[in-house]
Amino acid sequence: MDGSAGAASGGDILDQIFGRAISAKTLFRDRRILTHEYVPERLPFRERQIAAIGEALSPLLRQSKCSNLLLYGKTGTGKTAVAKYVLRRLTVKARELGVRVVAAYTNTRVAGTEYRVLFELGAAVDARIPFTGLALSEVSQRVISKIEQGGFYTVFVMDEIDFLVRSAGDDLLYELTRVNERLRRGFIALIGISNDLKFKEFLDPRVLSSLSEEEVVFPPYTAEELRVILLERAKEAFMEGAVDPAAINLCAALAGAEHGDARRAVDLLRVAGEVAEREGAPRVEDKHVRLALQKIEQDRIVEALRSLPLHEKLLVLATLEAGGPSTTGQVYARYSHLCRQVGLDPLTQRRISGLLSELDLLGLLDTDVVSHGRYGRTKRIQVLIEGRLVYEIFREDPVLRGVLP
Ligand SMILES: Nc1ncnc2c1ncn2[C@@H]1O[C@H](COP(=O)(O)OP(=O)(O)OP(=O)(O)O)[C@@H](O)[C@H]1O
Ligand SMILES: [Mg+2]
Repeated sequence: MDGSAGAASGGDILDQIFGRAISAKTLFRDRRILTHEYVPERLPFRERQIAAIGEALSPLLRQSKCSNLLLYGKTGTGKTAVAKYVLRRLTVKARELGVRVVAAYTNTRVAGTEYRVLFELGAAVDARIPFTGLALSEVSQRVISKIEQGGFYTVFVMDEIDFLVRSAGDDLLYELTRVNERLRRGFIALIGISNDLKFKEFLDPRVLSSLSEEEVVFPPYTAEELRVILLERAKEAFMEGAVDPAAINLCAALAGAEHGDARRAVDLLRVAGEVAEREGAPRVEDKHVRLALQKIEQDRIVEALRSLPLHEKLLVLATLEAGGPSTTGQVYARYSHLCRQVGLDPLTQRRISGLLSELDLLGLLDTDVVSHGRYGRTKRIQVLIEGRLVYEIFREDPVLRGVLP
């Protein structure tokens, strides 16, 4: 069937859906503005951090050396947004002035390996590096000679740097903090970003002192600050009058009550907008924010369940089968039984204790320690999610189909 015949038939389900989409009042002007990738033009309440980073990097514009920086603060406090914003402004200024400043950015969690981290830096200075295959020393040599040849004043942002340190140690950072000693021309400044300062313990003291020559702290936002941030972003993202101020206040209050996380606030507003639009509502109201809260939590749980390793899925099933709070021993017995049913060797009870705590942290199980006075303590474990939902998701896993009710 060709396209015109399909369009002409009118009654088909897609035509109805598309038709509704066209005729419904759209609330969003530009939904992209509330997605994670978007870096806003203005970042209120981060003037101090922007100025500090700008100040620290500005010698690069005079082709002089500058300090390395460490940016830290809890999740959603604007570290990534601010770093990208300053890099963008720095490169624009450098172009205006005609000076050779190069800005490179990588998220080490997304990059995954030391090789990929260096690859991203190489790409920014136009070094020719294959996707895989070279020795690390060869890669860094190519990057260094490019920086030297071009006389580039380079700033390299390594976002979520704790991931790199935990997964690969600090060899690469050691090397990068030493590069300037070897460069005859050009320079490289490092910016590390993290929301988890424990990684500092894994660093060689020399690497640590070099990386954190200057530190910039990102405090959590207050609910009032989140409200102002959301108001600004809503103005660009939504049509005029499409958002009830009460809805914004509620997003800000909910995100502020946790730990001042702007990502959470922005997510709430975006999902509330989607819920309202799908409902055909004339504007986003606080009831949509409440629905968004449920939806985000539900999506998080579904995602967490779906990505569990097999043994942890079996543990969730074993705990569900118990039908109420049960002891580690009871859960372990059922888990072992399930393992045999699917043809796996059960892990030791000790390992299982550790996995149970992880499932607790994910908010999938609740493990309570009950004290029996001098008779010791036992864990009471129960599943926090409806069995129906768990079974529905686990049914996607072919190994588990045979043991589901
Ligand atoms: N001051 C602000 N004004 C406008 N939007 C902001 C501001 N601060 C943060 N945001 C937005 O909030 C979201 C989270 O910010 P960002 O990604 O920078 O957090 P982060 O500190 O890097 O968190 P994480 O440690 O989890 O990586 C982004 O969508 C960002 O655009
Ligand atoms: Mg970030």
